[in-house]
Amino acid sequence: MNGATPHIVQYQGSKRNLAPQILQYIPKRFNRLIEPFAGMAAITIAVAKQRRADHYLLNDLNEPLVNVLKECIKHPQRLIDDYTRVWSEQLTYQGGSVEHFYKVRDDFNKGNQSAANMLYLLARCVKGSVRYSSSGQFNQSPDKRRMGTNPKNLARNVFLISSYLKDKTEFSSVDYREVTRNARRGDVVYMDPPYQGVCSSRDCRYFSGIDFNDFVECVDDLNRRGIDFIISYDGTCGDKQYGIDLPEELGLRKIMLNAGLSSQSLLLGKKETTVEALYLSHHLREAVAPIAQEQLLFAL
Ligand SMILES: C[S@@+](CC[C@H](N)C(=O)[O-])C[C@H]1O[C@@H](n2cnc3c(N)ncnc32)[C@H](O)[C@@H]1O
Repeated sequence: MNGATPHIVQYQGSKRNLAPQILQYIPKRFNRLIEPFAGMAAITIAVAKQRRADHYLLNDLNEPLVNVLKECIKHPQRLIDDYTRVWSEQLTYQGGSVEHFYKVRDDFNKGNQSAANMLYLLARCVKGSVRYSSSGQFNQSPDKRRMGTNPKNLARNVFLISSYLKDKTEFSSVDYREVTRNARRGDVVYMDPPYQGVCSSRDCRYFSGIDFNDFVECVDDLNRRGIDFIISYDGTCGDKQYGIDLPEELGLRKIMLNAGLSSQSLLLGKKETTVEALYLSHHLREAVAPIAQEQLLFAL
């Protein structure tokens, strides 16, 4: 049960590397973990590995992504078989493996959004980052140096993740507010919304996807209903700050986590540390924070 937390596939913005730090602020035992912005669910997988909660709810607006999680957890062997079929095709595809990626991408955009196709696109595309055109077409390019996760390596992780979460997990693909509205006392809500900015001075794209004021309203509602929550929310890189702070009136505790050297900066020849903010709800800041003494060094 030791070792790194397994993941299905790399995903841009994944909290896998930060999971050990974030888990210090999550209670040891509780009823249900809700992830409204699940992505590839790094925190849910880490919490389930330690059997801290009895139930889990995974949601992401991106439905094909949720289908990858669902298939992995409910039907691991089927996902591995289907992925193996798609992945292996590239080895004999006329035109080579890059052309094969474009063929699968075309199929996906024409409506064949099976979990295996989504997983293959994620495994083979640049930085595991999904990108869609304004008309909703998946338009990320393939990483030409890699063939994508080998099915043999994938299988072990998929079975492990399934063993942690099978028969305990609900899935949905709706706006985060629909999910948080149904949260109850006893749940812990972990929210990792899309970044407000990315860490690169040359290319500071703003891909938000959610409205700041709507998000603050949602957090305020959880506060009023006494529901425990944790938010990962933008951060700083070098001397740059990304994203607007959440308002002080919400009464949250802000902790800065050291996310290590920024890979974006390294590409630009700079060594800069990325720091990511974590906000704790009122009750959690009292109940859980004292166990994470070393993190107080970073606490604001
Ligand atoms: C930073 S990523 C989460 C990464 C995740 N913590 C992980 O470890 O893989 C944010 C996710 O929010 C999803 N998202 C964006 N807008 C959303 C919305 N309105 N409701 C629910 N999910 C949304 C995106 O599809 C994306 O997967």
